[in-house]
Amino acid sequence: MAVSQVAPQSRRLHSERVVDVASASSYRHFRLTHFHLELEVDFERQRLRGTETLELCCLQEASRLTLDVHPSLSFQSIGYRAGGGAGSKLAQVPYETQPFASYGSALVLSFPEPWKVGTEFQVQIEYEAGEGPGVCWLSPKQTAGKQKPYVYTQGQAVLNRSFFPCFDTPAVKSIYSATIKVPEGFTAVMSATSWEKRGKENTFIFKMLQPIPAYLVALAVGDIVSAEVGPRSRVWAEPSLIQAAKQEFDGVIEDFLSTGEKLFGPYVWERYDVLFMPPSFPFGGMENPCITFVTPCLLAGDRSLADVIIHEISHSWFGNLVTNANWGEFWLNEGFTMYAQRRITTVLYGSAYTCLEAATGRALLRQHMDTTGEDHPLNKLRVKLEPGVDPDDTYNETPYEKGYCFVSYLAHLVGDQSKFDAFLQAYVNQFKFQSIMADDALEFYLDYFKELKKEGVERKPGLEFDTWLNTPGWPPYLPDLSPGDSLMKPADELAKLWGAGSLNMEAIKAIDICTWKTYQLVYFLDKILGKSPLPDGNVEKMSKMYPKMTEASNAELKLRWCQIVIKNNHQADFVKVKHFLHSQGKQKYTLPIYRALWGGSEAARTLAIETFSGTEAQLHVNVQNYVRKILASKAATA
Ligand code: BES
Ligand code: ZN
Repeated sequence: MAVSQVAPQSRRLHSERVVDVASASSYRHFRLTHFHLELEVDFERQRLRGTETLELCCLQEASRLTLDVHPSLSFQSIGYRAGGGAGSKLAQVPYETQPFASYGSALVLSFPEPWKVGTEFQVQIEYEAGEGPGVCWLSPKQTAGKQKPYVYTQGQAVLNRSFFPCFDTPAVKSIYSATIKVPEGFTAVMSATSWEKRGKENTFIFKMLQPIPAYLVALAVGDIVSAEVGPRSRVWAEPSLIQAAKQEFDGVIEDFLSTGEKLFGPYVWERYDVLFMPPSFPFGGMENPCITFVTPCLLAGDRSLADVIIHEISHSWFGNLVTNANWGEFWLNEGFTMYAQRRITTVLYGSAYTCLEAATGRALLRQHMDTTGEDHPLNKLRVKLEPGVDPDDTYNETPYEKGYCFVSYLAHLVGDQSKFDAFLQAYVNQFKFQSIMADDALEFYLDYFKELKKEGVERKPGLEFDTWLNTPGWPPYLPDLSPGDSLMKPADELAKLWGAGSLNMEAIKAIDICTWKTYQLVYFLDKILGKSPLPDGNVEKMSKMYPKMTEASNAELKLRWCQIVIKNNHQADFVKVKHFLHSQGKQKYTLPIYRALWGGSEAARTLAIETFSGTEAQLHVNVQNYVRKILASKAATA
């Protein structure tokens, strides 16, 4: 097939014509060219205090500037000066906050005169950020070391408006800098290209030299140290975890980065570090540029959870360079990233491993669609976000795994992996540092593969691009995962044996799981979960037979075992469920377990209530709210 390289050029983007309903800001009227945060961390009062300076340029005449903020922010004064210079005098500008949505409000500055198109000016906001959904203050008890407090920010999707006033839309990108003053004995890190410590003043200076959307600005301050694990990588963690962190990822991160570069083009972010968060961190990983934040659950001791790092590294191209223009197009970030992650693991670990891992992803999508019903509106790739709906409330497996299927389908249409890889590079090159809609991506695809366009592939009955984007339901195309059969077959077979009414112990014993990879065990447990409840007594026998699986320290295995325990009402192991919920606060582990408990026996429901009252304060506010919702629902619908 003839491939025509489309030269990067400024096309008119669909993303320029849509609005982001999740932002109250006037981001279409002004261009943000740079912002600077000058903040001091006050652990006693749990406040970040200081000033933010925004450099703006007027794009459409306007006398009001609206920024996204949150009721947890308070403002001391707001000034402005025309021109870029810091020398001229600051004039005060009248401002007010207005309600916008449950997740934020609007800060409206009213200037005496309208700004003329092309005028540059500076706004300086003196403010304090308290305990907002984006700024998480942890007591010493909630850290690994238990000695010092900790604070971190988590911006995605719309939480950074409680960290600093901003255009809180992924449609807007800007460079930034920051000066963070911390108490003696603390270290600050940020999603920034450069990190510098001014020892005498306990101050850390950051510069981000590449434009990024507001949701990718991140800060963490605590008792944090670092160790080198590669030529451009360090791991950061509390002192008690740093050895384990170094051991888990020493030497391998560079392989992930260089494989990514071979596939998708230059890694533009200079550094790639990993910060191991306290256990209540609600995600497996968060792709903050230059420094991914991850759950300490990744420290499995055997590198078995490196996929999460590979996933976050993949966002360096898909998400952080080419960004979804609004949260209804989230699949562009996550679907392409899942595809990129699996391209990297195919190169590094082979297709058997990758297909097995993809099969566990498909199982998650199946579970999700079974719970919601296939035709639930969230089971479309393009989600219609209604004004007022918190984008985080729409989070589910569809953008990840159905998105992965769609990108795999696009590759399947091309029919040649190396040509599709070349397309991905061209796609990144075309849209780097921009924010786009699916239409931009798909138009580019059809322009790149002109013969496919001539064939009208976008209109193939049942597989129309429009159907992919706008029809809920199971993916109309599934990539072939049969290269994983050699790893899946034994697990399928064993699951079948354990599902039987009378157990064939001889056949069961003949299958030796000792040599199985973690993802084989995960896959097996998913199958068992699908067959649960098993005939009486089987789970008990299984738990005795496979201590490696049921006593595992690996969090992915723990999650599955907990789900099986609950679904089978195997009360002897309820204590494990309780312990797992106490030991970490990842949303993707916590919610499925509470859902299962709440839909389970009386004892399971009691366990849910007891455990939540013990762990509530440690959980991220969003996770708290989601658990509360589950515990307030009727059992059958949990
Ligand atoms: N960007 C996401 C995490 C996220 C999504 C935070 C939406 C807030 C709102 C991150 O890249 C992610 O997908 N993490 C996964 C990793 C997994 C798919 C390998 C996670 O946390 O489980
Ligand atoms: Zn992701």
